[in-house]
Amino acid sequence: MLKNRNVLITGGAGFIGTHLFETLIKDDNYIVIIDNFNECYYSGKEENLVNVTQNHEILKDYNIIKGDLLNNSIYSKIKCEIDIIFHLAAHAGVRYSIQNAEEVTRNNIISFVNILEYALHNNVKKVVYASSSSVYGNPIYTPVDEEHPKNPISPYGVSKLCGEVYADYYFREYSLPITSLRFYTVYGPRGRPDMAIGKFFNLIFQDKEIIVYGDGEQLRDFTFISDIVNGLILSGEKKKSSGEAFNLGWSNPITVNHLVDMMFKIANKTKKVKYIERQKGDVDITHSDIKKANDMLNYQPRVNIEEGLQKTYKWHKNNV
Ligand SMILES: NC(=O)c1ccc[n+]([C@@H]2O[C@H](COP(=O)([O-])OP(=O)(O)OC[C@H]3O[C@@H](n4cnc5c(N)ncnc54)[C@H](O)[C@@H]3O)[C@@H](O)[C@H]2O)c1
Repeated sequence: MLKNRNVLITGGAGFIGTHLFETLIKDDNYIVIIDNFNECYYSGKEENLVNVTQNHEILKDYNIIKGDLLNNSIYSKIKCEIDIIFHLAAHAGVRYSIQNAEEVTRNNIISFVNILEYALHNNVKKVVYASSSSVYGNPIYTPVDEEHPKNPISPYGVSKLCGEVYADYYFREYSLPITSLRFYTVYGPRGRPDMAIGKFFNLIFQDKEIIVYGDGEQLRDFTFISDIVNGLILSGEKKKSSGEAFNLGWSNPITVNHLVDMMFKIANKTKKVKYIERQKGDVDITHSDIKKANDMLNYQPRVNIEEGLQKTYKWHKNNV
């Protein structure tokens, strides 16, 4: 358990960042967030953060810095010694990256190099980097272990892989303790409205037709947010995780068609689905092998898709 540390969360106003913030602040950590609150592919980040901070009256326990990691002057605004950095900030949309390859490449890679330089020169004891299952591209075999070839099929996936190469370089050349985590499709309350589950629930609530790309038979390894937060914290506290990359998934993929059926059933609504052409950047299957994370981090995902969807539905019902 991470306790009484000074923690920097980049991208702390985003989906995964707000959940990590919420968990760590309960364990007496002091949290610094840097986020530029960009609205590239969805809005509502201020509200997401308020959702968390309104439950914490002790304002001295966190500091939210609104600014861009690409801007070097932002780092002088961090006024305490940071023990650990969770680097979650990125342009995270696959399709957005195909249309905005240069912007995504610059944002994701340069901002991470700035963070690594900050960590190196400020005695930071640990960096945890949010990578992605997108580094693998279309699998050659499943389940996909960490040694699987890396053939990303979008600028986003390439940028995440490039981040891992930088992580490896700083670990080898400077002994900077750093761990890369390859997340598999994360969902849950406050989930990103540009991703399937958030988007589908929003449309189902409005009795609108949902759009499925391709025939819906693509398999996805949907992973509930609390399991990802556990994996992040375990990586942050386990020394032997440094210099390594881990898959963090649920490891029991389902088809998008199965997902859609479950969602309409939970919402008790009549199914309305339109199938359109498959999108560039979409892989056929994501399926994590989580043995390495299980062995070395003691990572054990606990929330199955039925339970996770119920929790997500409840949040949508109360908030959207
Ligand atoms: N959500 C998933 O399923 C998933 C899967 C694999 C990997 N990831 C990775 O996890 C991380 C978090 O994802 P998320 O789903 O919470 O995304 P998100 O878009 O909700 O959060 C990312 C946050 O980073 C901020 N940001 C981006 N560029 C910035 C910059 N230059 N300076 C300051 N802030 C910046 C954004 O404003 C946003 O709040 C990302 O790195 C993403 O690539 C997510």
